[in-house]
Amino acid sequence: MIKPSRLQGIFEMQRGKFRNLLTRNLVPGRQVYGERLFHIDGIEYREWDPESSKICAALHNGLSQIGLKPGDVALYLGCSTGTTVSHVSDLVGEAGFVFAVDLAPRVLRELIFIVEDRHNLAPILCDANRVDLLAKFVCQVDWLFQDIAQRDQVGIFQKNVNTFLKPGGFGVLAIKARSINVARAPKQIFLDVRRELEKSFTIVDYRELDPFQKDHALFVVKKALMAPLINVSEPKAQQFKASGIRGPTYPPTINLLRTTGP
Ligand SMILES: C[S@@+](CC[C@H](N)C(=O)[O-])C[C@H]1O[C@@H](n2cnc3c(N)ncnc32)[C@H](O)[C@@H]1O
Repeated sequence: MIKPSRLQGIFEMQRGKFRNLLTRNLVPGRQVYGERLFHIDGIEYREWDPESSKICAALHNGLSQIGLKPGDVALYLGCSTGTTVSHVSDLVGEAGFVFAVDLAPRVLRELIFIVEDRHNLAPILCDANRVDLLAKFVCQVDWLFQDIAQRDQVGIFQKNVNTFLKPGGFGVLAIKARSINVARAPKQIFLDVRRELEKSFTIVDYRELDPFQKDHALFVVKKALMAPLINVSEPKAQQFKASGIRGPTYPPTINLLRTTGP
């Protein structure tokens, strides 16, 4: 039997001792990476494989949330041939959208076939480190995921979160310890990453991905909702209050409007 899990849009099915996770297939009848399809009450579900997807591995290891919901706009850095990004596409659904970035033309060529059917997915051939180039195509997003095996994984993630993630949005970072330093113990590297991320974000959850993905970990962070009020000069605050602008484009304004009331 397939039933909703405690996470929005993710379903579960008990098979013996093992609990399989599934997403509702946005493109019924189509597989992406040879995953099994299941049908219940006229709805098609795709099995989500924890050995092929770090988000799924983290969920199996007890991750409490990924912060993604239907209708979200997502930025996915390191999409490869589309295994996990296809599940992200299922999760945001028709009303959502996913920018899928990779720097390897070979993998992106394969993703093109998936995109033909999945109209909420846009492949972008680009280095995730080049936020200046990405900014030409990518808008502000509700959710950001990064899975790139680069030495400066954390720096690239911070740069992208600071540039593209909306205030209050969730960022998810998959870490491959051996890409950062082969000589250092993975647990020490995960600790270094935690300390670095804590300087800028709130860490919502963290899971190591063994036994599904050796020496990998996944962090879920939340970007601050608004800049501290102390950063807002009084003349600027008055100017924004007078303009009547409300919305996420100028976070301190929301705070001012809330404290003074409409
Ligand atoms: C482990 S694979 C990603 C797997 C994928 N996230 C999934 O779960 O299906 C890492 C990908 O990151 C890409 N990559 C590495 N460095 C990158 C960078 N600087 N910018 C964009 N993509 C990068 C690689 O080309 C590779 O396809």
